[in-house]
Amino acid sequence: MKGRIKHPEWADKGRIKVEWAERHMPAIGEIVKKYLKTKPLEGIRIGACLHVTKETAVLVKALQQLGARVRLAGSNPLTTQDDVAAYLDSIGIEVFAWRGETQDEYSEMIRQVTEIKPDIVVDDGADLHVTLHEEKKEIAEKVLGGTEETTTGVIRLKALSKAGKLLYPVIAVNNAKTKTIFDNKYGTGQSTIDGIMRATSLLIAGKCVVVCGYGWVGRGIAMRAKGMGARVIVTEVDPIKAIEALFDGFEVMTIEKAAELGDIFITATGQIDVIREEHMLKMKDGAILANSGHFNVEVSVSDLERISVSKRKVREYVEEYTLKNGKKLYLLGEGRLINLVAAEGHPPEVMMCSFSNQLLSIIYIVKNHDKMERKVYNVPEEVDTSVAQYILKAWGIKIDELTEKQKKYAESWR
Ligand code: NAI
Repeated sequence: MKGRIKHPEWADKGRIKVEWAERHMPAIGEIVKKYLKTKPLEGIRIGACLHVTKETAVLVKALQQLGARVRLAGSNPLTTQDDVAAYLDSIGIEVFAWRGETQDEYSEMIRQVTEIKPDIVVDDGADLHVTLHEEKKEIAEKVLGGTEETTTGVIRLKALSKAGKLLYPVIAVNNAKTKTIFDNKYGTGQSTIDGIMRATSLLIAGKCVVVCGYGWVGRGIAMRAKGMGARVIVTEVDPIKAIEALFDGFEVMTIEKAAELGDIFITATGQIDVIREEHMLKMKDGAILANSGHFNVEVSVSDLERISVSKRKVREYVEEYTLKNGKKLYLLGEGRLINLVAAEGHPPEVMMCSFSNQLLSIIYIVKNHDKMERKVYNVPEEVDTSVAQYILKAWGIKIDELTEKQKKYAESWR
């Protein structure tokens, strides 16, 4: 064993899972094919902190095939798929992750990743980037560049940059069109509903689902909940997004009002304390609380603990809280991202889009880091477009091209 994992004996099970993902992520294979001869990542050390899923395994294998040494920690204590970790370990990837880490173990595994003195830092949520900046400055100073997978991580890195403290360039993979539109919206939309269904085994149709936040993730969840037959209420703080939700056919109101109406609450804001004590006290007996935002801060679990007289586990990822007022509320997956805790995260087709961006952005940094400044970059337009081209090609879909006459027409003012 090269790293620290829980079940090395599950490697075969993990391999079969990863093969399934690989089959449904053909663009990654196409990119690997294109760069296999030149091996642009030869000799590059990559430190990564990502949800250890079958799809992540496909990315990490591709990095290895292109010459990199990869050390991987999980980006959440509850989302590692132990069989996938075992498989990766069996093929020489140094994995430091298992499902059910304590908070201290989680932080320690991230520190283990910094120990290889990474040239490239790949993160989901920015815990690895922040650890490097706070605890391992001398290592961070030598990093060529990094990437960031999610909205919350990009927000943290932009704050670091604004404070003048960012020590290497970072590409915000999250902000690529071929990431946000497909991953945050369609990926989280499907997998969040999947997670709630697997955790509860309840019917979505006929329920009142309250979606907090109508950004990329919230839009996807609201759309899919509606498609399953739910009555959907949206809460927002942004007046434009609120109108968009209204025009998309949803009811819009404050969380205070929605609290009385919802059967299932799903947070997707990236903000702290979106559902608090005063809301919980108003909820119906039996209401379900779930989160799909990056951190477990959106549903205030400390408030829930404070207003409860007892709690017990009633299903694998369902905790029943009995409140002082006698009502029962059900918290899913400890308030952590439910699509990765109770389901398997995004479908492979979606992660193909996100991870094609990761792969091409990493290659881009290796080639261009000496021209890059210590700031947060968007994914270069040409990379974003080429990801879409790789995907269409892999799926055998052809699209039209502008004729010369149309190109001229698009540029004329008459
Ligand atoms: P976004 O910035 O597009 O949307 C967030 C929305 O929440 C905004 O419209 C904002 O106005 C709204 N909001 C903020 N505070 C609020 C409050 N107190 N009440 C109601 N609405 C509020 O961000 P995006 O891309 O939708 O991401 C949301 C979260 O989901 C982030 O933490 C992100 O990292 C995470 N994420 C999780 C994924 C998963 O697999 N579960 C996948 C992708 C992103």
